[in-house]
Amino acid sequence: MSSLNEIRGRLALITGASGGIGAACAEQLAERGVNLALTYATNLDAMNKIVTDLQSKYAENKLKISIHQVDVGKADQIEKMFQEIDAQHNQRPDILVSNAGYGKRFPNVWDIALEEFDYTLNINLRASFILVKGVVEHMKSQRWGRIVFMSSIAAQGGGINGCHYAASKGGLTGMMKNLSTRLAEHNISVNDVAPAMIGETGMIPNAAAIPEVAAGIPLGRLGTPEETANAVTMLVTTGYMTGQSLLLAGGLK
Ligand SMILES: NC(=O)c1ccc[n+]([C@@H]2O[C@H](COP(=O)([O-])OP(=O)(O)OC[C@H]3O[C@@H](n4cnc5c(N)ncnc54)[C@H](OP(=O)(O)O)[C@@H]3O)[C@@H](O)[C@H]2O)c1
Repeated sequence: MSSLNEIRGRLALITGASGGIGAACAEQLAERGVNLALTYATNLDAMNKIVTDLQSKYAENKLKISIHQVDVGKADQIEKMFQEIDAQHNQRPDILVSNAGYGKRFPNVWDIALEEFDYTLNINLRASFILVKGVVEHMKSQRWGRIVFMSSIAAQGGGINGCHYAASKGGLTGMMKNLSTRLAEHNISVNDVAPAMIGETGMIPNAAAIPEVAAGIPLGRLGTPEETANAVTMLVTTGYMTGQSLLLAGGLK
């Protein structure tokens, strides 16, 4: 890998790393020798298990891995997380994977309470804005940074959830495109990955959880967290690519 895209020894912040997709992203970056600041909201047991597994599997990489409990819907908790990262890693992240997400399923607008709309936007959209503000000065000053948002097929109107979730993910894609233009001169790439129907996650444990939808996936199966992480790894190791939303949806539109 050219030095332009060398990530060994860098620090990545991955939010929602206790969940299916976030954990898969953590694994691929750990394998490539990236130090990690991982966040969870409620599932400390899963988080501890993931860190123990990574430290033993990639022991030769001598990784520094920290964990942080954060509700990304709360700005003060994100600020506290950055202070913990400063203290434990002596630097801000070089790579941000803003992956933590929430989406209670209400397909129809008449069932979506205003509070549900606000709550979903706080976690899925506003948090990414706050996270970018927490990492961007460091990335600018070293003229190297990678930012990846976890969007969704919902950003284009598809998927199984309602307009609250679509708005939060569509907002992410809009923010990503703007930031990619603004931050390119600082050698910071900004992209998103837009998955659909990824199994082995809290959102979709398996095909039986969404039988009719699963039956309609052209590829005939759910996607995997590992495949989603493949796209994230490609983006963080391909700095020339910026401003892109990568749909990962088994042929769904
Ligand atoms: N699965 C799919 O098919 C699919 C499709 C499109 C987009 N996505 C997106 O992919 C991302 C990861 O989801 P996943 O599929 O891997 O589901 P998951 O296994 O349920 O993971 C969700 C993660 O987000 C964390 N989280 C939830 N609410 C949070 C909050 N308020 N503050 C901080 N962290 C919070 C969870 O933490 P705890 O478990 O510790 O509480 C967990 O680590 C989400 O942004 C989701 O919208 C998933």
